[in-house]
Amino acid sequence: MIQWTDRHWRYFIRGITNKTLLFTEMTMADALVHNAEDLEPFLGHDGEEYPLALQLGGSDPRTLGEAAALATAYGRYDSLNLNSGCPSGKAKKVGFGAELMLDPPLVRQIVHEMVRRCGDSAVTVKCRLGVDPGRTAWDELLEYVHAVRDGGARHVVVHARTCMLHGLSPAQNRSVPPLRYDAVHDLVAAFPDMTFTLNGGVKTFEEARHHLGHRRHGEDEVPVTSAHPVHGVMIGREAYRNPWMFAGADAEFFRKGPQAEGMPRTRREVLERYLVYAEDCRAKGVFGSNVCSIVKPLHNACCGSPAERAYKHALDALLKRHAQRLDRAWAVQCGKGPRHHQRAAAAELGAELGDTLGAPTSFTDLVWAAIDGGGVDAAFLDEDLRVGRGVAVAAARGNEEEEMEESTCRNRGIWSF
Ligand SMILES: Cc1cc2nc3c(=O)[nH]c(=O)nc-3n(C[C@H](O)[C@H](O)[C@H](O)COP(=O)(O)O)c2cc1C
Repeated sequence: MIQWTDRHWRYFIRGITNKTLLFTEMTMADALVHNAEDLEPFLGHDGEEYPLALQLGGSDPRTLGEAAALATAYGRYDSLNLNSGCPSGKAKKVGFGAELMLDPPLVRQIVHEMVRRCGDSAVTVKCRLGVDPGRTAWDELLEYVHAVRDGGARHVVVHARTCMLHGLSPAQNRSVPPLRYDAVHDLVAAFPDMTFTLNGGVKTFEEARHHLGHRRHGEDEVPVTSAHPVHGVMIGREAYRNPWMFAGADAEFFRKGPQAEGMPRTRREVLERYLVYAEDCRAKGVFGSNVCSIVKPLHNACCGSPAERAYKHALDALLKRHAQRLDRAWAVQCGKGPRHHQRAAAAELGAELGDTLGAPTSFTDLVWAAIDGGGVDAAFLDEDLRVGRGVAVAAARGNEEEEMEESTCRNRGIWSF
């Protein structure tokens, strides 16, 4: 999600779930092609972020093919995803995103080029149920998925709404058109050789399980939503708003294979892991590591605590007072940032020090000051996130659980974007 699932957020959430597939923000294919010599600002990521899907935007098959080749050479993405669901004004003007749904033959060509140039990564497509006006009929959706398949992709992520091309803002286009989950389940039936991930409005694992046709560990029966469960569920806004909901994801949805060793057990450990990373990024001068960018994933870090609002208040106040000062010091230390920033920093740093005695002297200090200032209590920070969320049950039931998984779980799990 643009400006949300950036590299810092992805690193942060990796402290909570190790196996959920993460998606990058949409990256424009032509930006990669024009900046082929310096891809870090566009593609930079940490090895810890895998499994990772890179989403590409664009409408020219050759450019998207070239971008796929560049991306594949840069990182070992699990998949490259073509965005054909974005409703933004720019997408409309330039003809990418949801506009692509108007032109299935073009999408076939794009997918073909991406598949041809992407090495071992899978190519997937994200789309809507249709675009209005233009193509809203079921047969047109089928034609679209056929085009994707003919191009060589086998996996489609469907935001279960039509995209209104006129009259709605992008935000409204994510809430006003009604959700039609049945249509996604019907696609599963119509294309038995393909894989479908359902997206849109899913806020809990209970709902996800419903679409996946799962039973919960330790529960006898939960009604399955459809005779044709989907293969994955993508959770967008809720994953950002409440990252802690993913604490149980690995144990619940990815039980096959070993669980990751050394995963943080508590919110405090997740935060500590992130702060080590953040300081490291700042020390190395990693692109986009100024205070405001690197603190962004932490805005929702106290979701679920009674002190959530107070923490956000304290964090905002501290950022207002100290972000610039910390960034100036950072710019001087690592020679990063705009030149005028650096000059100002060199001149002002000494003078400012007198005024800011007792103020946070590092990014880490600032975050802990917000936690203290907001009154976030230790019980929240030190709660064992894995207790009662699947691990204990899975371990105790051993083979029986494996057998149940074989018979009832078709999915690859929850996908977050
Ligand atoms: C801030 C924001 C940015 C988004 N950026 C993208 C994007 O870059 N590519 C994309 O395919 N969808 C994007 N989306 C849409 C989400 O991926 C998702 O399809 C939509 O929010 C519905 O899922 P949800 O109800 O789980 O959030 C964005 C959504 C939001 C709120």
